[in-house]
Amino acid sequence: MGNRRSFLKTACKPIVLASLGISILEACATEEMSDSPTNSSLSPGSDKKEPLVINLNSSLFSDLTEVGGWLNYTKHDLLLVRISDEEIRAFDNRCPHQGNRDQWEYDGSNFTCQYHFNSYSNSCTGSLTCYQTTFEDNILTISFE
Ligand code: FES
Repeated sequence: MGNRRSFLKTACKPIVLASLGISILEACATEEMSDSPTNSSLSPGSDKKEPLVINLNSSLFSDLTEVGGWLNYTKHDLLLVRISDEEIRAFDNRCPHQGNRDQWEYDGSNFTCQYHFNSYSNSCTGSLTCYQTTFEDNILTISFE
């Protein structure tokens, strides 16, 4: 009797149901057994991302050379805009309306999502999620806190 109770407690549900003649398609894996990839940019035990450091000397960022220049940096889901010689702002490129990330235009003060033409200020007090940045010696560091 003890063995049967112990078996029912430790066996996964599909095995128990199958032993009772009930068929079910479900894996016996637990979360601990899962081998899903982890996001290496996340700190262990935290959902916060590590700061992102970008060397703007790379030609990938040539759009940010001039004040008013901007870039939808889709690799990291960021809208980057050069506000002044000393400041580059970084926003999450997720549109507050329906979450699209890939159809942005910029007019020098507002980003407009081309899906439904909603506009969002380049201010860090607007609707777009703004991240803290530091910019020194052409190195941009973005904090995701
Ligand atoms: S998804 Fe951006 S305006 Fe609708």
